This record gives sequence, C-alpha cells and structure tokens, in this order.
Amino acid sequence: MSLRALFPRHRIDAEPADLGRALAACALPPRGAAGALEAWASPDGEVLATLSVRSGFDALLTALALPAGSEVLMSAWTIPDMARVVRAHGLVPVPLDCDAATLAPTAETVARAIGPRSRVLVIAQLFGARAPIEALAEPARRAGMLVVDDDAQGYSGPARLAGSACADVVFHSFGTLKTATALGGGLVRVRDRGVRARMRALMERWPEQATERYARKVATFMALAATRDPWRYRALERVAAGVGRDVDAVVTALTRGFAADTPEALLRALRQRPCEALCATLRRRLEASTTGERVARRREAGERMLTRLGGAVTVLGDAMEERTHWLFAVLVREPDRLVQTLRREGYDAARGTSTIAAVSAAPERPEQRAGWCESWRSAVVFLPVYPEVPEGERDRMAELVRAMEG
Ligand SMILES: Cc1ncc(COP(=O)(O)O)c(C=O)c1O
Repeated sequence: MSLRALFPRHRIDAEPADLGRALAACALPPRGAAGALEAWASPDGEVLATLSVRSGFDALLTALALPAGSEVLMSAWTIPDMARVVRAHGLVPVPLDCDAATLAPTAETVARAIGPRSRVLVIAQLFGARAPIEALAEPARRAGMLVVDDDAQGYSGPARLAGSACADVVFHSFGTLKTATALGGGLVRVRDRGVRARMRALMERWPEQATERYARKVATFMALAATRDPWRYRALERVAAGVGRDVDAVVTALTRGFAADTPEALLRALRQRPCEALCATLRRRLEASTTGERVARRREAGERMLTRLGGAVTVLGDAMEERTHWLFAVLVREPDRLVQTLRREGYDAARGTSTIAAVSAAPERPEQRAGWCESWRSAVVFLPVYPEVPEGERDRMAELVRAMEG
C-alpha cells in the first residue's frame, strides 16, 4: 500500500510571522508590556496577566489562604496539574462527574458534592464549548463558595474574556495548543478587589520568566511549523518510527509545558511572572482580527464532522452551547485500532489519555468518585478536525470512523 500524507493532530494557532514577531520582541523586549496587556484585556482593571493559568490558580489559592483540608470541587476532566496545584496547597480536590453530551457536572452533582469544608468550585469549559455555568454555580453560591469559570480552552475572541457574569474568577490560557496562542501566558479575571490586590502583590514578588527561555521555545515552534505540512509530518512520523518512537510521544515531549515531578518543583516552575516579550506577543495575538474568522471556520468544520459521523460514535460535548470545536473528541469501542487505522490512512488521531485525566476521588471524600469520567477516559480519541484539513479529507475520515465503529 502506498504511503499517504499525514494530517497533524492539531494545528498550532500561530503563523510563522507571529512567531517571528515574538522572536523580535525577545531581542528587544518592550517596556511596560504586562501593564499594557492587562489594560487592553480589561479597561475595568479586573484582569491579571500571568505566566499560565496554573500560575494564576496557584496565586489565587495562596491569596485565599483557605484552612488546610478545605475542598475544591472541580470538573473531573481537566489537566492533571490543576488537581496537583490544589493538593500542593494542602487542599482537597473533589471530582465532579460529567457526562458525554455536556462534559459538565449537573447542578445536582454539584449540590450533592458540597460538604461542610467545600470552599471553591472550578468548572472547566471543555473543548471551547460553554457549560451552563449559571445553573451549576447556584448551589455553590448558596453555600458561600467561590466560583471559578475555567475557560482555559475556550478563547474565541476578545468578547469571551468577559467570562460568565456569575463567576468570581475567570481563566483564559494562551499556552501552546490554545487558540491565539502566544506559546504561554494566561489572563485571569478576578472580580473581588481585595483578592486581586493580594494576588498582584504575591506575583510582584515572583521572578520574571527568563526571556531567553521564552525565545528558545518560540524558536522550537518555528522549527516545528515546518512539520505542519502533511507530507513533512509523515516524514517526522517515519523518522520517529525508525528510532522506535511513536510520533505521539515525540509531539507530546516537544509541546509539554512545565516538567515537574514533585509539588514543590511544580510550584517553583509556576511562580514566575511572564516576560515582557511574552506579554507583548500575547497582546498582539489578541488584537489580531483573524482569530474570530478562524474559530468560525473551525466551528463549521466540527459541525460538518458531527453531521457526517451521523451518530456512529458519540461526539463528546455535542449537546453543549456555543461549540467551537477547539478539539474534536469521540468515544469509541476500539481506540487503539481506530488510531492505528486513521494514522495509516493519513489522519493523526490521538488517544485522549495523553491529554486529559480524571481527577481521582480524594481519600478524604472517597464516596465522591467521578465514575463516568474515570471509566470512559480510555475510550476517547481526538480526531484532526480543523479547517486546514481539506473538507474532502475530513469527510473521508468520517467514513473511515463510521466503517470501523458504526
Ligand atoms: C481545563 C484546563 N484548565 C487549566 C489549564 C491550564 O492552562 P495553562 O497551560 O495556561 O496553565 C488547561 C490547559 O490546557 C486546561 O485545559
């Protein structure tokens, strides 16, 4: 069988020209870029610029100074570091189970999980869609808890930065895989003036991220941009296979954020301020008018895929509001077989286990277990569904999935 080109699993949402400008900012870092970014993101002064969402989350938990053993209720599907940060503060992460259609807990799940030590609720807006956070926040509000809208994955244009009106804190991330990425950076809206001032004071004492380090990251991704081309990406996959590595492992290693084995190392890595070059790059990315247009095309590609799959597999989050299909994930019976077949046929599908984790039940609250999220995580496969994959190729991918799983 002849070799086909391979469409990468994800397209970094930055053009080589954006990365070139980021490198130029590293060479001549502009002064006052962090302040200018914050002022641009929120004329009301509610937004803090951070190195990452995780850095902002760490600052928030420090500023709240909750008693040890206080509980943070969180959507069970999130990135593993969010629960690690909670633990590193001597707090207890309590998972909230979600379901396939909404990828969010129900208001009843939230209400049932609230105990006498519950203080914070974190709802993750997965894959860029919107969870009905107003209804979910209601029981937490009644219990006097702080509500966090974790929209790390959801940026789709400046309007989205406002976040849910009912949330006390809103997170947006601009890490490597995110929409309008600056290869790092977070924006954290904190409505309470006192909490915000404490977070700002804390972060001002943190060292600034080394500009050279940011420059190295930008340079790595400039080089990687060459593998966007499906034939070059196939070549990377072949080279990786030749040395006994899976392209999955290679891409994950190159795009991994903070490598930290212990809670102390994680906090050390998070406790840095973004460098001026990163802040200037992020502001430029947010100002770009192209984001809304690409998100619209991405949404269209995702919705078409949903129709083409015709119910042969469960598409995660298909009942959510404002789907923007930042990622396109399906639940399948034979994930390994599907991934292998799709890769052979030219589509770099990936197992979900490399991206999402289910927050495990805490020993302090063993009954609060996210059964659905735990048992289905291993059945998740991400499909490369984005506008730069030609429509005919996406339709062919849908046919392959239907043939195997329908
Ligand atoms: C749901 C969710 N929360 C938080 C984060 C952390 O964002 P950052 O990489 O900016 O720390 C991510 C990153 O992927 C995420 O997906």
